[in-house]
Parts: sequence; structure tokens; C-alpha cells
Amino acid sequence: MKIQPIRGTHDIFGTELKKFNFIKKIVDNSAADLGFNEIITPIFESSDLFKKPLGEHSDVVLKEMYTFQDKNDSSLTLRPEYTTPIIRAAISNNLLIKLPAKLYGLGPMFRRERPQKGRYRQFHQMNFEIFGTEDVFADAELIFLANKILDSIIPNNQFKLFINSLGDRDTLKKFKSELSSYFEQYISDISLENKEKIKTNPIRILDSKNSKDIEISKEAPNISDFYSKNSKAKFEEVKQLLNNLNIPYEIDVNLVRGLDYYCDTVFEFKNENLGSQNTLIGGGRYDGLIKVIGGADIPGVGWAGGIERLMLSVDKIKNNLSKIHLIIVEESLKEYSLRLLKDLNKNNVSVYCDYRYNLKKALSFASEQKARFAIILGQEELDQKKYTLKDLLDSSQKMLSYEELLKKINLWEILKIN
Ligand code: HAM
Repeated sequence: MKIQPIRGTHDIFGTELKKFNFIKKIVDNSAADLGFNEIITPIFESSDLFKKPLGEHSDVVLKEMYTFQDKNDSSLTLRPEYTTPIIRAAISNNLLIKLPAKLYGLGPMFRRERPQKGRYRQFHQMNFEIFGTEDVFADAELIFLANKILDSIIPNNQFKLFINSLGDRDTLKKFKSELSSYFEQYISDISLENKEKIKTNPIRILDSKNSKDIEISKEAPNISDFYSKNSKAKFEEVKQLLNNLNIPYEIDVNLVRGLDYYCDTVFEFKNENLGSQNTLIGGGRYDGLIKVIGGADIPGVGWAGGIERLMLSVDKIKNNLSKIHLIIVEESLKEYSLRLLKDLNKNNVSVYCDYRYNLKKALSFASEQKARFAIILGQEELDQKKYTLKDLLDSSQKMLSYEELLKKINLWEILKIN
């Protein structure tokens, strides 16, 4: 029986895993630079955590959640995003006492979308959230953090920041109602997939990829005409802070985000070389959401980035496989070899042990793996209490004592020759 991987899932190993770990390291270091604390939450939660907060008419809730009945009949969902679980965990564990609270996490998310390049059914997100401040300093700080992480991962600044403001909750309500009336006039021309959204979620028509919808949206009401004084001032301040940080951005009035909980600042970073799934990071402010999930009425702002999409944007990764192969020529030398391995590791030398007990095959494998040195251990070496070090670049070799061997390897490590 050959069992296939589930459609839209993928195994991560080899170079791809190196890219994954490289990104994770940058995420952890950048989080520490700005005082964020890591949190890990369960992969499944009560379905209620997602339905209302993400929006009952959002694509994620309508079509993409992996929801199932548990044996006791409770409804569970594999988390499709991380913001709501982090808020739930912060409330459950009393982490919202001292504010602002800054939390981050990285882990798998699940959405039943149509798989394509950069879009999976199980994918990983890094996620940063600041709870408990209305100050748009936090919005700017989070955008700075996203920009800094992307800068360290993607060569030549191949990403672009787009921002918008959705105004406060009242603004958004008024705007949605105007938008519904506007699109209603074009009901016969709007794409089939979006007809229903005219009533339920009209702002999503603004970021439709259908050419007719795009044409109709051009004359649609503009959110900026609806801002309250306070929202307008907030958006101006965000722009001012980004200018001050020298972070370039473009204002996109059709940037509305796919989840329902946003208000005021929203933003996305895109890599325009990636094809249709080109949003690397998306986020914004979600004042009111924490209360909906059962916490205090405190504001929040954050973003999430897709690790797989970032992996597609990483150019090359340094191969840090061990460059030293330990070749054991005879099976009777196992114990002696393991002692050498232990000693070398103690001296911070990493080695790949080859125990096929065949010098020729082991040497050819070492060359294939682009190893730099082979330490060869045979009966002769054991008798003389020495080790043969073969330089795989020029094929020269020498018998050395343990001290000489270590010295040679350390010198090579220090000089980083090849
Ligand atoms: P989102 O825009 O739904 O936002 O997802 C954020 C990022 O996750 C996307 O920009 C993309 O890079 C990645 N992503 C989403 N779906 C997939 C997929 N099917 N395959 C691969 N990557 C994907 C959120 O999830 C919000 N919780 C972000 C947020 C945090 N807002 C405030 N705080």
C-alpha cells in the first residue's frame, strides 16, 4: 500500500528545511530585538473561536476551515490563522494584565484552498501581535519589524509595502452600506463568485482579480471620503512615522484584507516576482476583536507572514553540512571510531560518520557531498595510534596524531579556506 501525501501539504527537508530554519532564526532574533515574547498554542481550537471573529461571510470561514466533530460532539477547527488563538491564549493565561503585551509565534496553519505555487492547505505563519495600545507607534513599530525581517531574508529589496486605512468601525459600517448600494447597480455585470458579496461583504469586491469587477470598482465610493476626524489623523500619523523611518510605501485604497476583524491601518508586503500568490506579509489593526473573543475591550494590532512564500523568495542558502567525513575501513574499528567521534565533537568539530566499511565507495560519497576532508581509520592507523587526513581538494593525504589532526582542522575552520 503506497500512501500519498494529502493534497496541498508538503514535506520540508534538505535545502528547504535549511531555508525554513534560517527564517525561524531571523524571526526569533528580530522578536528579541523588539521585546516580543514567544507563545505556542494548540493546533486545534473550538470552532467558535474563528467563526464570528474572522467573519461569517469571509472566504476562510465559508469555504476553507478544516472543521470536525470531536467524539463528544464538540466542534473543533484546525487553526486557519494565529491572531485569534494567540488572543484566546492571552486571555486564558492572564497575559493581558500588564499592557501593552507583545507576543509572537511561528507554526502551521490550515486552510482548504486550491493548492498552487505559494498556496498550501497546511502552511506556516510567523505572527506578531501587540495588545493594549491605541498609539499608532505600535502600527509603525510592527511595519518596521516586518520590513527588517524581509530585509534580512530577501535579497535586493524585492518586496513592496502597500498601506491603507479602513477607518474606525462606524466608518467601515457606513462605507460598506454605500458600497453595497453602488455594486447593486451593476449586479448583472459583477462576477458570479462575487454577486453574493454585494450584500454580505462588499469590500471584498474591491480586491477581486476579475477584470469586470476591477472595472466596476474603479468608480466605486472611496473609503477616504468616509474617515472620521480621528481615523484620518491616525492614518496621517502612520504615514508620517513611516516616512521618518525611510520605509517606502504605496497607498492602495482597494487594500481591504480577507478577514473581517480589521479597522484603521491595514498593510501588506508583496514580492511582485512571485506570481499570483505574492503577498508575503499581511496585517493591521483590529480594535474590538479582543472583546469579541471574551477579553477586555482593549485594542490590538499585528501581522502574519507566510514562511513558504518567504522560502520561495530566499535565493541561496549556505550549505552547512559537515565538511568532514569519518571513513571507517573495517567493522572491527567501530569502538575506536566512536571514541574519536566523541573527542572531535567535544572539540566542536562536526563529522559525518560513514560506516559502509568500503574506502572507495565512502570516498566517492564524500566527494559527491562536497566534503572538504576525509579522516580515514584503518588497521594501520589503529596500530600507529594515528589518523589519515585526506584533503579532498587536492587528494593529498597525511598520517597525523590526534593533536595534529585537531590543529589542522581548527586552522582550516579559522581560516575558512574553501
Ligand atoms: P492573512 O493575510 O490571511 O492574514 O495571512 C497572512 C499571510 O499568510 C499571507 O500574506 C501569506 O503569506 C500567508 N498565507 C495565507 N494563506 C496561505 C496559504 N494557503 N498558503 C501559504 N501561505 C499562506 C492573517 O492570517 C492574519 N491573522 C494576519 C494578522 C495578524 N493580522 C493581524 N495580526
